[in-house]
Amino acid sequence: ETGMTTYDPGFVNTASCSSAITYIDGDAGILRYRGYPIDQLAEKSSFLEVSYLLIYGELPSQTQLTEFSDRIRRHSLLHEEMRRFFDGFPRDAHPMAVLSSAVSAISTFYQDSLDPFDSEHVEMSTIRLMAKVPTIASYAYKKSIGQPLLYPDNSLGYVDNLLRMTFGVPAEEYEVDPVMSKVLDMLFVLHADHEQNCSTSTVRLVGSSNANLFASVSAGVNALFGPLHGGANQAVLEMLQKIQADGGDVRSFVQKVKDKQDGVKLMGFGHRVYKNYDPRAAIVKKAAQDVLGRMAKPDPLLDLAVQLEEIALADDFFVSRRLYPNVDFYTGLIYKAMGFPTKMFTVLFALGRLPGWIAQWREMINDPETKIGRPRQIYTGAAERDYLPAAER
Ligand code: SDX
Repeated sequence: ETGMTTYDPGFVNTASCSSAITYIDGDAGILRYRGYPIDQLAEKSSFLEVSYLLIYGELPSQTQLTEFSDRIRRHSLLHEEMRRFFDGFPRDAHPMAVLSSAVSAISTFYQDSLDPFDSEHVEMSTIRLMAKVPTIASYAYKKSIGQPLLYPDNSLGYVDNLLRMTFGVPAEEYEVDPVMSKVLDMLFVLHADHEQNCSTSTVRLVGSSNANLFASVSAGVNALFGPLHGGANQAVLEMLQKIQADGGDVRSFVQKVKDKQDGVKLMGFGHRVYKNYDPRAAIVKKAAQDVLGRMAKPDPLLDLAVQLEEIALADDFFVSRRLYPNVDFYTGLIYKAMGFPTKMFTVLFALGRLPGWIAQWREMINDPETKIGRPRQIYTGAAERDYLPAAER
């Protein structure tokens, strides 16, 4: 029982590849990583355990998980020269642009171990990326607020290290909020892989030219940056803030979306594959209500989001187009409550998606069937014609 269902030939023709990593049934709203349902992993597993599952194909034993976590911890430092790299960006540089550049840049320190067909090189690249991307992400944030960069603290867990490097300062001890850490870990699990989405297909396509893992992941970061893809979590917050600034009239905003006024979309709604509720969105919505429910001052944007969802799910425009909340609809509200600025939301998506990109690249690079990605086209340009000298045009 591999979870396979019989696809109609049309689907098989459009399928870009076969893969054993993630299974999605968009009509039934099913998502499984290596056969394990997403709700079980979100509730019972951890981000590093799920990363191991995606990359190596099986849930690790306790010893394997400890060894994997220790290896990652020991590689969390960036080469000291990289600290100057961040000085080259303007203070308001978008951290996704910093992230894609830095992922590519750090590979220049490992040029003797980037061979996609050397298993030790691939292992080292896997560990280095898992270890250093959180450090890069927190450095991009620290530079934008003019605070000193904090070195990783290897006595902390993966997510706690990220939180401390992001929100800690040298002048005082940083106390990790265990609830925040657990929720962020769970959000990374939900984002860890999602079959052949735009950024993962980009990682596969770039890697299919035998480009190394860093170059392929850097390309994936750039694809994720787009507001129709990972950038949607930032766009949802900006949409909610605009509705609030315009007086909070949700119904008139929904009407603008229905009238397709100025191309306005209900960000965080709709999906290329899910024509049902995105199973991740349901889990995120509950986490948002839990996290925001703990806040001293409730965030009015949560009420706006819940209202938007209720109105949309009762409106034929959305129901007839099978538009439901996707993973990006509620995540931004949680990230905001945690203290992350809106510009960091898509970086958090990238941190979560990293093991998926790595797993999919490793599967692709070892697939003998993989030729260089070379899509064809339907030519719609001019028919053959002869050159005319300028004087005769
Ligand atoms: C992610 O692929 C993945 O797996 C991605 C992802 C992952 O984990 O990697 O799940 C993460 O990227 C989620 C999507 C985040 N993006 C957004 O929330 C941006 C808003 N959503 C859309 O732009 C849109 O829904 C897409 C791009 C996600 C899907 O676009 P489609 O395939 O064109 O949507 P569709 O075919 O279902 O559209 C049908 C109709 C169209 O209108 P009509 O031509 O029928 O009049 O619905 C409209 C679309 O214009 N529509 C929307 C809408 N999404 C689709 N109208 C208003 N608001 C929306 N959000």
